Amino acid sequence: MKIAVLPGDGIGTEIVAEAVKVLQALDLKFEMESALVGGAAYDAHGHPLPESTLKLAKEADAILFGAVGDWKYDKLDRPLRPEQAILGLRKNLGLFANFRPAICYEQLVGASSLKPELIAGLDILIIRELTGDIYFGQPRGRRVATDGHFPGAEEAFDTMRYSRPEIERIAHVAFQAARKRSKKVTSVDKANVLETFQFWKDVMTEVGQQYPDVELQHMYVDNAAMQLVKAPKAFDVVVTGNMFGDILSDEASMLTGSIGMLPSASLNSSNQGLYEPSHGSAPDIAGKGIANPLATILSAAMMLRFSLNQEAAAQRIEAAVQKVLAQGLRTGDIYSEGTTKVGTAQMGDAVVKALG
Ligand code: IPM
Ligand code: MN
Repeated sequence: MKIAVLPGDGIGTEIVAEAVKVLQALDLKFEMESALVGGAAYDAHGHPLPESTLKLAKEADAILFGAVGDWKYDKLDRPLRPEQAILGLRKNLGLFANFRPAICYEQLVGASSLKPELIAGLDILIIRELTGDIYFGQPRGRRVATDGHFPGAEEAFDTMRYSRPEIERIAHVAFQAARKRSKKVTSVDKANVLETFQFWKDVMTEVGQQYPDVELQHMYVDNAAMQLVKAPKAFDVVVTGNMFGDILSDEASMLTGSIGMLPSASLNSSNQGLYEPSHGSAPDIAGKGIANPLATILSAAMMLRFSLNQEAAAQRIEAAVQKVLAQGLRTGDIYSEGTTKVGTAQMGDAVVKALG
């Protein structure tokens, strides 16, 4: 088993180091190889996703990814910006199925901005389609408008599009995931306005007929955004497109108290996967040793489960995380009175110790 370790930028290097520490403590046989990605790769090689990094990722069974991005690259041409690295990995490896669980840990109920009774016991799974939609749709660009409200004016455009097979495969992923949970899928669309999402809704309904044991509900994205803060526990599996999934998964993450706790998995059809925390590179706190490594450590657990077929080891990590939370250890983002504030490395060490 080979793991490509791509720490990236900002707090990425600090949090990935802790996840690697935890993986090494498991005494499993896997090979880990690191490479630069994002701004760090741009600085060293002039490109955010160098050929050598892409090659390593393609050859690995799984990729452990930190985060990319820093304001200092904002002025670069788009193809050279750090974000292109993660988009390029998703596209080149065909990582179309993105799992973003939002779980509220019992000990962190108080860290959410929502009332405890709304989120205690929350466990929802957002499944975001990750390689289509307006993120990747062609054509896109800038031009002089020939029609619209201001013919002759400079304009920019992107293309929202989904093909039937793209919708079908993510639908199957969602229905199958729901079968292992509470058998309920909410498909989020904007069918009242967008042709792309009327098609999305139609195909979801068709695929749903193959899963009569799973309840399928359709919801417009604006209503979903509202329901997520009004009654989040009414959801179980939420499936949606790339753009809506980007927005709703950030919203859902904050229900749980801290985005610093949430892992994610992005899989292709051969179960090769990229695992990363749901949060970004947080340049404002980078290098200070205070970032929360738990989302990355939990991403490593997802990696063991989905790509490396090591369910027992995944559960060991998850139990260890529960244990350190129960011990009252907290990084700044989840700190509250009466708990013990620790740094990134101390948190990683505590998880290693709690593995037993
Ligand atoms: C995410 C991020 C990315 C996205 C960016 C960094 C390209 O926000 O993984 O959610 O928009 O998909
Ligand atoms: Mn995002």
